[in-house]
Amino acid sequence: MPFKAVFISVVIGSALIVAAFMLNARRPGIGNPSLGPPFLAGQPNASFVRATGKCAECHRQETAAVVHQYEMSVHAVKGVSCLDCHQAVEGQTEIAHSGFLIAGQLTAANCKSCHTTEYQQYLRSRHAAPAWAAVSGSQDFTVEQIAFGEKYHEGWVDRPANALALLEGQSAITKGCIECHDIGKPNLDGSIGSCTACHARHIASVSLARRPETCGQCHMGPDHAQLEIYHESKHGVLYNHLQHSMNLSADPKRLTSRDMSVPTCATCHMSGLDGLKVTHDTTERLSYWLFAAISDKRPAFQRGQTEMKEVCMKCHAQTPIDTFYREAEQVVADTNEKIRVVAEIMQGLRDDGLLTPEPFDEPIEFVYFDLWHYYGRTAKHGAFMGGADFVQWHGNYELLLKTTELMKMAEDIRAQHEAG
Ligand code: HEC
Ligand code: HEC
Ligand code: HEC
Ligand code: HEC
Ligand code: HEC
Ligand code: HEC
Ligand code: HEC
Ligand code: HEC
Repeated sequence: MPFKAVFISVVIGSALIVAAFMLNARRPGIGNPSLGPPFLAGQPNASFVRATGKCAECHRQETAAVVHQYEMSVHAVKGVSCLDCHQAVEGQTEIAHSGFLIAGQLTAANCKSCHTTEYQQYLRSRHAAPAWAAVSGSQDFTVEQIAFGEKYHEGWVDRPANALALLEGQSAITKGCIECHDIGKPNLDGSIGSCTACHARHIASVSLARRPETCGQCHMGPDHAQLEIYHESKHGVLYNHLQHSMNLSADPKRLTSRDMSVPTCATCHMSGLDGLKVTHDTTERLSYWLFAAISDKRPAFQRGQTEMKEVCMKCHAQTPIDTFYREAEQVVADTNEKIRVVAEIMQGLRDDGLLTPEPFDEPIEFVYFDLWHYYGRTAKHGAFMGGADFVQWHGNYELLLKTTELMKMAEDIRAQHEAG
């Protein structure tokens, strides 16, 4: 071939490659090969290109991180477009936006249209209406929502707003309580909650949801130290050691104990490990109301224990698990007894008119609250999730100390009263 022909074909060839790159850069990438199968290099259809390509083209300039995270998601691989999520569903207001109509605000309702099962399971859990009612009471819910919530959690939705929250005031509620409890927020479109607390908005990731820190955004601190307890437990220690070799993005329908040989919060409370079924009802596998001052058995006590033990037994033998439960239940029984003694002292003071009817206006009420709400709970949570230090030094030791303090305070109140 003469030199000129070679030169021309090289130039044309290079130009074509450059043009292909430029065109390709303008449409959104679909899928991330590093996620492994099902990575599809297929050509997206016309409506996908319009509803995502146009958004992505502009948003790559405006909010590049959003587009980048979307490109990493299973949604991008499966051809779910920007507009599939961002279009208004029933009950939402539409706003005109660069040639499209998009929803003013997205809620769980936007995910529900494609993930009804997950939404319905979530709706039955304490993550839905009970979580919001714990702070704000029933005032923000419709009659139907209250009835639905009460069917699954009798007495935990139809209740007054939280007294402590009211005393702390609105800014503390907005930036404090609600930042965690909005997992069950009632939305204007009639749905409850949002799905992004565990999956985030654009990566829509199960591996994120399986990380303990994701749950630990809310499940931490002295009143529900689940994250701290987990990291102290053998499970947490091994997870930190092995996480890089674990397959945290395994398909939920096929998750095995090979993918995750150590459980995280999600494994015990939600996953469909080795053929079990995935659940978004985080209440399903529980048997006690551990968060309560006195922990009674839940109505579905037996089912809760059976389902959780089935998870344990994917990795453990029956006998050690039965022993583990027996010992943890003994901590619950003993803690109940310790709190009951103190609760009676408080009731005695009230009955004798030695405390005002207002909550949280006398120091002894705070000591009592700390006693069960911090230390009693911590002991019970520690016992069920492998946190020895939390059963002991952050639990029982503090219980003893606070009980002594409270008894002295009660004596002083009575003495003061008798002295006139
Ligand atoms: C021609 C450019 C352009 C196009 C096309 C475009 N957007 Fe935007 N979008 C913007 C700009 C600019 C903003 C404002 C960013 C800011 O406030 O800094 C924005 C904001 C948004 C917001 C945040 C709105 C808010 O106020 O909370 C969402 C959500 C959004 N766009 C989604 C989309 C979706 C979905 C599409 C495709 C259906 C799309 N956009 C198409 C330019 C565009
Ligand atoms: C899986 C559903 C889903 C998909 C797909 C999706 N988004 Fe979103 N996006 C959300 C949710 C949820 C929010 C939070 C909205 C809210 O709070 O009202 C959001 C928020 C945004 C925001 C506002 C971000 C901020 O922090 O202010 C922009 C901009 C946006 N999306 C653009 C896009 C673009 C562009 C695409 C496609 C490349 C896209 N989204 C695809 C669910 C999605
Ligand atoms: C238009 C339909 C559609 C909408 C809307 C939608 N999804 Fe999806 N989603 C899908 C499809 C399809 C898959 C892939 C399912 C599969 O392969 O079995 C998926 C998968 C997922 C997965 C699993 C990802 C993985 O790694 O396996 C999560 C988590 C998820 N979606 C969350 C959400 C959330 C949160 C929203 C709302 C913000 C949402 N989706 C909105 C269609 C949708
Ligand atoms: C945005 C905050 C938030 C995140 C993130 C969160 N939770 Fe929760 N969770 C709550 C709140 C608030 C409650 C208490 C609801 C109530 O009892 O009123 C709760 C309650 C629970 C309960 C007790 C349910 C019951 O019936 O008593 C379990 C179990 C639970 N969460 C597990 C998880 C797991 C596992 C994760 C992570 C995969 C997680 N949570 C992520 C806020 C959160
Ligand atoms: C860091 C996140 C976070 C903050 C902030 C927070 N909570 Fe919670 N709350 C939780 C979690 C998680 C639980 C679940 C504890 C459990 O089941 O062990 C919970 C449980 C509760 C419960 C017991 C469950 C029930 O339904 O009765 C009440 C009541 C409650 N919170 C009220 C409040 C109030 C009021 C505030 C603000 C003054 C507040 N919370 C602030 C995360 C939080
Ligand atoms: C408390 C955290 C949490 C919340 C809130 C949450 N998810 Fe999930 N989700 C998870 C976890 C954890 C998994 C993976 C379970 C496992 O390990 O297999 C998952 C898995 C999924 C999957 C894949 C299921 C499958 O079988 O392939 C979809 C789809 C999904 N979630 C959608 C949603 C939707 C829609 C919502 C809102 C209604 C939602 N999630 C709210 C934690 C959460
Ligand atoms: C090895 C399994 C396992 C792991 C891992 C695990 N939990 Fe638990 N969790 C349990 C068991 C068992 C109980 C008590 C069940 C019962 O009531 O029968 C429990 C109770 C709870 C409760 C108490 C609900 C109440 O009644 O107050 C919450 C909330 C919770 N776990 C959240 C978490 C979070 C968040 C993580 C991770 C930081 C986690 N769990 C890790 C097994 C586990
Ligand atoms: C996905 C597998 C898996 C699941 C599910 C699981 N565990 Fe474990 N567990 C382990 C591994 C791995 C160890 C560490 C064993 C070792 O030391 O090598 C462990 C350790 C323990 C230990 C400490 C044993 C010791 O002697 O140090 C206890 C107790 C325990 N698990 C209880 C439970 C309970 C209770 C459940 C269910 C609520 C559960 N586990 C669920 C994998 C699992």
